[in-house]
Amino acid sequence: MRDLLLLGIETTCDETAAAVVRRRPDGSGTILSNVVRTQTEDHAEFGGVVPEIAARAHVEVLDGVIERALRAAGVGLSELDGIAAAAGPGLIGGVIVGLTTAKALALAARKPLVAVNHLEAHALTARLTDKVPFPFLLLLVSGGHTQLVAVTGIGEYEKLGGTIDDAIGEAFDKTAKMLGLPYPGGPAVERAALKGDASRFALPRPLHGKPTPDFSLSGLKTAVRLEALKIAPLSEEDINDLCASFQAAIVDILADRVRCALRVMRERGVKPHALVLAGGVGANQAVRRVLHKVAADGGTRLAVPPPELCTDNGAMIAWAGAERMARGLTDGLDTSPRARWPL
Ligand code: KG4
Ligand code: ZN
Repeated sequence: MRDLLLLGIETTCDETAAAVVRRRPDGSGTILSNVVRTQTEDHAEFGGVVPEIAARAHVEVLDGVIERALRAAGVGLSELDGIAAAAGPGLIGGVIVGLTTAKALALAARKPLVAVNHLEAHALTARLTDKVPFPFLLLLVSGGHTQLVAVTGIGEYEKLGGTIDDAIGEAFDKTAKMLGLPYPGGPAVERAALKGDASRFALPRPLHGKPTPDFSLSGLKTAVRLEALKIAPLSEEDINDLCASFQAAIVDILADRVRCALRVMRERGVKPHALVLAGGVGANQAVRRVLHKVAADGGTRLAVPPPELCTDNGAMIAWAGAERMARGLTDGLDTSPRARWPL
């Protein structure tokens, strides 16, 4: 076994990102560079990511982002051991841009290609930042995904539960839009919630107490809209109170559903080394606080990558690529991009 040096490329949503990561044979890793060019401003006026705009923006900036990542790491293409790209799931235009670029580089530099599942990359990030051993419970909560996954090894993922309608990040974004707050909604709702009274509105906690760890968010979103309609026009205080009440409901839902998933794992005789929180919603302080407690109550600990590694980035793709390569897993240049690709 030797060190593995990988370039990672991420283009599945609205960040164009590239990074260089080293993985050592003992399973530890170092991020040599991590360049993220976000498109948030390109999409802000539409209140959400526009796939066509995203794909075009990836085409325009990806080459420069990769160049900067290599330069910042002080690494030439010839020194790499492999090139990893997120091959899905995601917005297909962006995925095609990233994967095709990775194939071209792999071909030109005669390096192996690793086609990484974006969700797997989120799942494995805590092994880079926290050296979390298998097995662990993953809570992935982003704008596009809400899943609880039992992770027992590389390539060994069992989805315990997921959302039957909206993702939690999406619920934050839609609530923000409804209340006239800026995109992306998560940080805006969190800021407003800090100033609000969470007890003012009684909002539902869908699926509370259900025996499988699934989520449903659309009823909560509708309840916020109905409350807002009742008291419109909204004052700043009303908006803050609605945000605080919404966030309190999300926190309760997450706590209940994660407790349920921990119970499911325990019943199967699996003792997770950690509850790993990944995805953009993991940046929320109230969410972190409650999950810290839920993990401790469940006899485990919460592991959360730093915020810049919770949201989409190239380092997580490079790292997942290195973890796969270390097990001899690489992919052919005929690998297809995938809009949908469950773990
Ligand atoms: O993982 P991510 O960067 O992109 C994907 O969706 O893959 O997650 C973005 C999502 C958005 O929905 C955003 O509103 C949410 O994460 N988010 C937050 C916070 N920061 C970002 N949600 C709640 N609180 C936050 N502080
Ligand atoms: Zn993501």
